[in-house]
Amino acid sequence: MIYRVFYNLLCGVITVLCLSLSAHAVPWQNLTGEQLEQKLAEKFSAGEYSSKGADSCLMCHRKDEAVMAIFDGTHGMMNSKQSPMAGLQCEACHGPQGKHNRGGKEPMIAFGTDSKLSASAQNSVCQGCHNDPKQMAWHSSTHNLEEVACADCHTLHSAKDPALDKLSVNDTCSSCHTKEKADMNKRSSHPLKWDQMTCIDCHSPHGSMSESALNKPTINDTCYSCHSEKRGPVLWEHAPVTENCVTCHNPHGSVNEGMLKSRAPQLCQQCHAPDGHASRVVQEPGMDAFGGGKSCLNCHSKIHGSNHPSGSLLQR
Ligand code: HEC
Ligand code: HEC
Ligand code: HEC
Ligand code: HEC
Ligand code: HEC
Ligand code: HEC
Ligand code: HEC
Ligand code: HEC
Ligand code: HEC
Ligand code: HEC
Repeated sequence: MIYRVFYNLLCGVITVLCLSLSAHAVPWQNLTGEQLEQKLAEKFSAGEYSSKGADSCLMCHRKDEAVMAIFDGTHGMMNSKQSPMAGLQCEACHGPQGKHNRGGKEPMIAFGTDSKLSASAQNSVCQGCHNDPKQMAWHSSTHNLEEVACADCHTLHSAKDPALDKLSVNDTCSSCHTKEKADMNKRSSHPLKWDQMTCIDCHSPHGSMSESALNKPTINDTCYSCHSEKRGPVLWEHAPVTENCVTCHNPHGSVNEGMLKSRAPQLCQQCHAPDGHASRVVQEPGMDAFGGGKSCLNCHSKIHGSNHPSGSLLQR
């Protein structure tokens, strides 16, 4: 994995630095992503920044409200010397103007899901400023390795980035994660669909040291952070519960009650032999305590463990 990370970084650097002498006759709108990256690399090494900064760009882009919205957001502020507006302004992100202003002769760096540029090429721009230790987990994160761009989640030309708003971050995530979106709308789920809870209550969008980019070191620690009563210790443990909550639950939602992956008795019979209750009497299939709504749970109700001295069978 480390090698992959290195490779990505190297490519990011090379696309910016490497100089290609081949000239393209085709207009840049028709270039492939790779050709476009080469063209931009040439433009970078020529380094022709405009002398008027944003004013130069706004001669043409002022009428576009979406573009002007950058001045309502964090990156449009002048309050810190790290701010793009205190330096190269628009070109801090979109690269040097070069001959872009001469009849659109040359391309600019474009961002987001519509951009033809690779995620690593786009991200290297952001990482030029956002390289503090808080961003370290990003490099080995699945999002980085799967070529998700910063701007696939973040919107910069906006007063408020929807990814940073608790009421819209679930939409940001579920625009790609359609399976989880479907799950969270099922009969039983965490209150995600009402935005009372968010994906980032459990996951770190920039990656973490844990599996599935969880905020906490393990799955169970993640669950205990809200369901502390399930942490125990209990007198009589139920082994799968202490091991892994998602053996039985789907954290995103399920058609079964209690976000269970399947219902009893099937849920239990993945591990427990279907029989073994000597006294079991069946008059009519499905009508005894074994069938029907709660099935095994009619008797073994303390499924997460028992504190009763004689609760070894999780019955009390
Ligand atoms: C002379 C007019 C003109 C000037 C000046 C100008 N642009 Fe553009 N820009 C265009 C046109 C035309 C397009 C292509 C049509 C479109 O996408 O709106 C474009 C497209 C873009 C795009 C989208 C590129 C893409 O691949 O989709 C970005 C980003 C951009 N310009 C940024 C800038 C920045 C930053 C500056 C100042 C450094 C600037 N422009 C100056 C005319 C101009
Ligand atoms: C020229 C430097 C610079 C570049 C390039 C840059 N940023 Fe920023 N960014 C800043 C500064 C300064 C802040 C405000 C201080 C902070 O939160 O670190 C900021 C804040 C942010 C925030 C938090 C915003 C908020 O409202 O709290 C996000 C998200 C962000 N940047 C994403 C990006 C992304 C994505 C890119 C690449 C497309 C990018 N930045 C490129 C300098 C930059
Ligand atoms: C999968 C979506 C996603 C991607 C990809 C992503 N971010 Fe974020 N980012 C978020 C979310 C969600 C938050 C809010 C986190 C929070 O509130 O805990 C955030 C917060 C931030 C912040 C402000 C808080 C902080 O941690 O300082 C910055 C700056 C930032 N991201 C920059 C970036 C940069 C740079 C990249 C690319 C290298 C990137 N992000 C990639 C979703 C994403
Ligand atoms: C901090 C980085 C940053 C700065 C500074 C910045 N942009 Fe952008 N720009 C982006 C990102 C990221 C996008 C993708 C859409 C979004 O996030 O809002 C974008 C999108 C665009 C687009 C394409 C919009 C479209 O319709 O698809 C244009 C044109 C553009 N920017 C022009 C400018 C101009 C002009 C300025 C200066 C006034 C500027 N940008 C400053 C990062 C930046
Ligand atoms: C632009 C598309 C896109 C967006 C937006 C996006 N993701 Fe992802 N995410 C992916 C891809 C691609 C993968 C890797 C394949 C997969 O697991 O689906 C992934 C993987 C993940 C994983 C599994 C990580 C692992 O290491 O196993 C988690 C968790 C995740 N994303 C959470 C989020 C959250 C939370 C958000 C919103 C803040 C988000 N994603 C937004 C594309 C996206
Ligand atoms: C209550 C905590 C919790 C919330 C909220 C949550 N997740 Fe997860 N997510 C998990 C756990 C735990 C796993 C690991 C599941 C496993 O290993 O079977 C996971 C796994 C994932 C994966 C990887 C799936 C795979 O097949 O590898 C993705 C993608 C993901 N979550 C996306 C999301 C998105 C998007 C949201 C918001 C709609 C979200 N999650 C909300 C706990 C949560
Ligand atoms: C950020 C807090 C939070 C985290 C973390 C969390 N939960 Fe929840 N959980 C809730 C809330 C809130 C409810 C809804 C309670 C209610 O409706 O009374 C809930 C409900 C549940 C339910 C009952 C659902 C139903 O339909 O009755 C189950 C099962 C559950 N969570 C399992 C888990 C598992 C497994 C994890 C770890 C992967 C987890 N939770 C992590 C907050 C959380
Ligand atoms: C062996 C399967 C299994 C495992 C593993 C499991 N649960 Fe459950 N859980 C259930 C069943 C079955 C129910 C439904 C109980 C009922 O309907 O009476 C349930 C219900 C719940 C509920 C809602 C009712 C209540 O008791 O509060 C929460 C919350 C919950 N589980 C959290 C967790 C957490 C957290 C973990 C991990 C520590 C976990 N579960 C592990 C089987 C399991
Ligand atoms: C992932 C496997 C798994 C699942 C699913 C599971 N169990 Fe268990 N269960 C175990 C293990 C392992 C033990 C400990 C067995 C031992 O100590 O001999 C155990 C112990 C028990 C015991 C105590 C009996 C004893 O010998 O200590 C009962 C009762 C029980 N489970 C009922 C259930 C019920 C009811 C369900 C369904 C809601 C269920 N289990 C689901 C693995 C599982
Ligand atoms: C009518 C109440 C009742 C129901 C329903 C029930 N059990 Fe039991 N279970 C018991 C009793 C009583 C014992 C201890 C005496 C015995 O072995 O017959 C027991 C013992 C067990 C044991 C430990 C002994 C062994 O067999 O190794 C396990 C595991 C178990 N049950 C699992 C289940 C599962 C899985 C289900 C659902 C398919 C279930 N039980 C349904 C009452 C019940």
